[in-house]
Amino acid sequence: MTHEIAVIPGDGIGQEVTPAAVEVLEALEIDFEFVEAEAGDAVEEETGEALPRETYDLAASADATLFGAAGDTAADVILPLREAVDSFVNIRPAKSYPGIDAVRPETDLVFLRENTEGVYAGHEDRLTEDVSTLTRVVTESASERLAEFACDYVSGDEHDGFTIVHKANVMRETDGRFRDTVREVAEKNGVETDQVLMDAFATRVCLDPEQFGVVVCPNLAGDVLSDLAAGLVGGLGLLPSANVGPERALFEPVHGTAPDIAGEGVANPAATIISAAMLLEYLGYDEAGDAVRTAVEATLEHGPRTPDLGGDATTDDVTDAIIDRL
Ligand code: NAI
Ligand code: MG
Repeated sequence: MTHEIAVIPGDGIGQEVTPAAVEVLEALEIDFEFVEAEAGDAVEEETGEALPRETYDLAASADATLFGAAGDTAADVILPLREAVDSFVNIRPAKSYPGIDAVRPETDLVFLRENTEGVYAGHEDRLTEDVSTLTRVVTESASERLAEFACDYVSGDEHDGFTIVHKANVMRETDGRFRDTVREVAEKNGVETDQVLMDAFATRVCLDPEQFGVVVCPNLAGDVLSDLAAGLVGGLGLLPSANVGPERALFEPVHGTAPDIAGEGVANPAATIISAAMLLEYLGYDEAGDAVRTAVEATLEHGPRTPDLGGDATTDDVTDAIIDRL
């Protein structure tokens, strides 16, 4: 069966790392049909719309989507795209790799981030000249859906329960609901949990990341803490992510458009290529996904490496090396 893969490179280094990941997928000679679509700052400048209807519809109908990054329009692009795939969880693994100079090489975390609400629900208002407000939304249904997913995620493998990260001591109603709902679902499923306040988590994960494995958290906390974890493992060039819904999913690097290096051909494609490995696994191509991971890991360890990892290779050099190893 042919799988349709939507490819949305976006802006900046999205235009460099997304084609690199597609090249890797093409090298596997799987029956994929790639359909490319536009989104981001450049298309907004041209047409007035950061996310054209046909791009949204494509993501909403393709079997899986590979997304690069969008610039200033990121929120106008990625939030609706996550909604297009009805994605209720953002999976963000953060682990270090052999040969990479990491602050905390022992880090091996997976963030399961609530992906539909919290402070990213989009309810912001300017009440007066002086006052702006934001409404934070936490629902039992979204918390439950995330918790059920987390329970499945940790069952039957090396994970030993999960940690709920929240700030329910201050946001008693919203994070209180989040914490209690997630904990109840875990109890019902016989999954062990512990809980840590999100500010304390930030310190503890820096000092001793090994005490954590799978982390379940609200939307903003997951966004911030996973970037923090990127700092522990060697930078944003290494962090992949998956936005998973009940029927489809969207895969993207955690990083943005990297305007400081965009256009130079030196962006690290690893985050996007590992995202492509997650796409393969999602579609059931476990062996191919594994092969891609192995090729990326060998390339990170033995080179060539891009400048963010201390090397002097280009995006193309690294991509070619990964494909050679495949
Ligand atoms: P960023 O992730 O684009 O860059 C942060 C730093 O990490 C920069 O120094 C950059 O050079 C480096 N970096 C990131 N990815 C890299 C890679 N693959 N290889 C080598 N170095 C890499 O974050 P920043 O600078 O905060 O945001 C830039 C733009 O990206 C903004 O317009 C922001 O709105 C957008 N953005 C979009 C996202 C998305 O589309 N999902 C996510 C995050 C930011
Ligand atoms: Mg982010």
